[in-house]
Amino acid sequence: MIPRICILIISLYLFAGISSQSNEHDATIRTMEEFSGYQIHEPSFHDSSSSSLSVDTETLQSQIDELSTFSDTPAPSVTRILYSEKDVQARGFVKKLMNISGLSVREDAVGNIFGRWVGSEPELAPVSTGSHIDAIPYSGKYDGVVGVLGAIEAVNVLKRSGFKPKRSLEVIMFTSEEPTRFGISCLGSRLLAGSEELAQLLKRTVDGQNISFSDAANLAGYTNSDDFSSIFLEKGSYSAFIELHIEQGPILEEEAISIGVVTAIAAPASIKVDFEGNGGHAGAGLMPKRNDAGLAATELALAVEKHVLESGSIDTVGTVGILELHPGAINSIPSKAHLEIDTRDIDEHRRDLVIEKIHQSALSISKARNVELSEFKIVNQDPPALSEELITKATESACQELNLPYKKMISRAYHDSLFMARISPMGMIFIPCYKGYSHKPEEFAAQQDIANGVRVLALTLAKLSVS
Ligand code: GLV
Ligand code: MN
Ligand code: MN
Repeated sequence: MIPRICILIISLYLFAGISSQSNEHDATIRTMEEFSGYQIHEPSFHDSSSSSLSVDTETLQSQIDELSTFSDTPAPSVTRILYSEKDVQARGFVKKLMNISGLSVREDAVGNIFGRWVGSEPELAPVSTGSHIDAIPYSGKYDGVVGVLGAIEAVNVLKRSGFKPKRSLEVIMFTSEEPTRFGISCLGSRLLAGSEELAQLLKRTVDGQNISFSDAANLAGYTNSDDFSSIFLEKGSYSAFIELHIEQGPILEEEAISIGVVTAIAAPASIKVDFEGNGGHAGAGLMPKRNDAGLAATELALAVEKHVLESGSIDTVGTVGILELHPGAINSIPSKAHLEIDTRDIDEHRRDLVIEKIHQSALSISKARNVELSEFKIVNQDPPALSEELITKATESACQELNLPYKKMISRAYHDSLFMARISPMGMIFIPCYKGYSHKPEEFAAQQDIANGVRVLALTLAKLSVS
């Protein structure tokens, strides 16, 4: 079956060909305007009937599969932690694909990777797209990856079609969207968006093994990783940023809708808490005399659930994803407990209220249990981000032209887009994933759904690159 996009493009070429009999120059412009939905002043397509806009689905799938082998845990799980050996190998793989696609590749001081297709007006702010390839422990192979390899394939699709962008198109692979190693989410995109606060924090940040951020970066080959000012991008550096991603929720699959057009990204926050007690012998320490740091932590975990549910909104969520006890022996009363709490909401005020309640609970639990609350640290408390209408409209019309059903939706997960929205108009494209599974090995997106996402991305990029 000829994909619909081919029919669309072939008919545009035919249209161009027929019109060119009367006025070749005008016809090419009209073709481009029809294709992009925007008025343009320069002809950008070559009349090449052999070109095609179809996605090379098989190759893209084999690239996704190959990338998943750069993992520290066995298939089907994927674990790829920032600056690990596997991460460095995976980065090499992405740079290789960017080079094969004819992109000009650069890396910044922390390893955000940029592959640029220079447009016919290179002085204009480029249109950018991208995502991440780092993977939390025991996760799957599609989170982030679809938005990086899919973006490179979107460029290939446009190149094969004969399309020539006016604004340059840039594919970005962001460093460490996941907070796994240093507890900081969206590290690369936060820095790109100019976070001075993060630049300062990174100077004293260590991982769980006490390795400093700059030592880890050095080992991975990034020897100027503290040159943060070279990373920051000015607002307006891009005319648009758009990220393709699996939904990570079940809505699109359940409703049999091909594309989610994201209108907003929920506001995430994360908190680190430490309790300290006296510890001691699990047999000999009498119950009334104990101040068990572990019980304080578990009580706080239940309080997190309670405060989240009290909000009364399905959009408020909270998770205790890390709970560590010290010394971690069956016959020792925990003397230290460490929790990491993730809470989010599309409503920032409501999310902040939950954080305040969690703090009050931590204080009252420490008092009631006679344990010390040695740390209550809000690691990040980010505002939500809104998509830009310019981009959602371009994506919607791409879906209409490709005859793909779509719906507008919010993203409950965070993405690098949350931070790119600080320096650029932002939008996101979601595709369905199996049962909404994500952050676990069962994560799966069908080839057809990925191909649909890549087509919509390609067409959206094309529209934005001529506006
Ligand atoms: C991103 O991985 C998130 O946790 O939302
Ligand atoms: Mn993720
Ligand atoms: Mn992701």
